[in-house]
Amino acid sequence: MGKVLILKSSILDKYSNSNKMVDYFIEKWLNENSENNITIRDLAKSPVPTLDNELLDAICKNDVELTERQKKALDLSNSLILELKEHDLIVIAAPMYNFHIPTQLKNYFDFVIRAGITFCYTELGSQGLIEGKKAIILTTRGGIYKDTPSDLLTPYMNLILNFIGIKEIEFIFSEGLALGNESVIQSQNSAYKTIDNILF
Ligand SMILES: Cc1cc2nc3c(=O)[nH]c(=O)nc-3n(C[C@H](O)[C@H](O)[C@H](O)COP(=O)(O)O)c2cc1C
Repeated sequence: MGKVLILKSSILDKYSNSNKMVDYFIEKWLNENSENNITIRDLAKSPVPTLDNELLDAICKNDVELTERQKKALDLSNSLILELKEHDLIVIAAPMYNFHIPTQLKNYFDFVIRAGITFCYTELGSQGLIEGKKAIILTTRGGIYKDTPSDLLTPYMNLILNFIGIKEIEFIFSEGLALGNESVIQSQNSAYKTIDNILF
């Protein structure tokens, strides 16, 4: 399946459940692939800055003289996009925080979603320019929200990835992680089983 890009976004460091799922995924990948062609980007440990007026000018306008802060932001945006383009399978650890994705992951999308580079507008509407990729979303939650209106994360991830052209998307859920030990064990085992069954 080529090269794998893993995006982590948990702020819970060594207590992170989504990072545990990532570790399990990596173990499976390395068992089935002779090459270690995995890139890991931890968006909590190396955060992408929050987009503001100054940084927006840097990544959207071509005709402005850039400040040092803007140059750094533009370089980061360009390198994140290049990294995304260079990988075939994008694994995104997406914990649910306040019914949505972590700010760290949203900031990443704000830096990679750029008109004319990762999407464009045509007479027929918008068109994604990141094609030929597959995404696997490892999503962890304290409660149980799958297939309910309170799960804003799943439709958002579908929408945003589709928007830039990533159409093949698989979700792996680990829910009920705040509902006691038994629930945690059941939830993790079920998620690991689903990871075991991924066909590369
Ligand atoms: C700031 C914060 C907000 C949270 N919000 C929710 C929530 O809205 N719904 C939910 O089910 N769990 C919520 N949780 C629980 C997390 O989803 C749960 O701890 C999960 O394990 C997070 O993944 P992680 O351990 O990889 O960070 C929240 C946790 C934190 C730290």
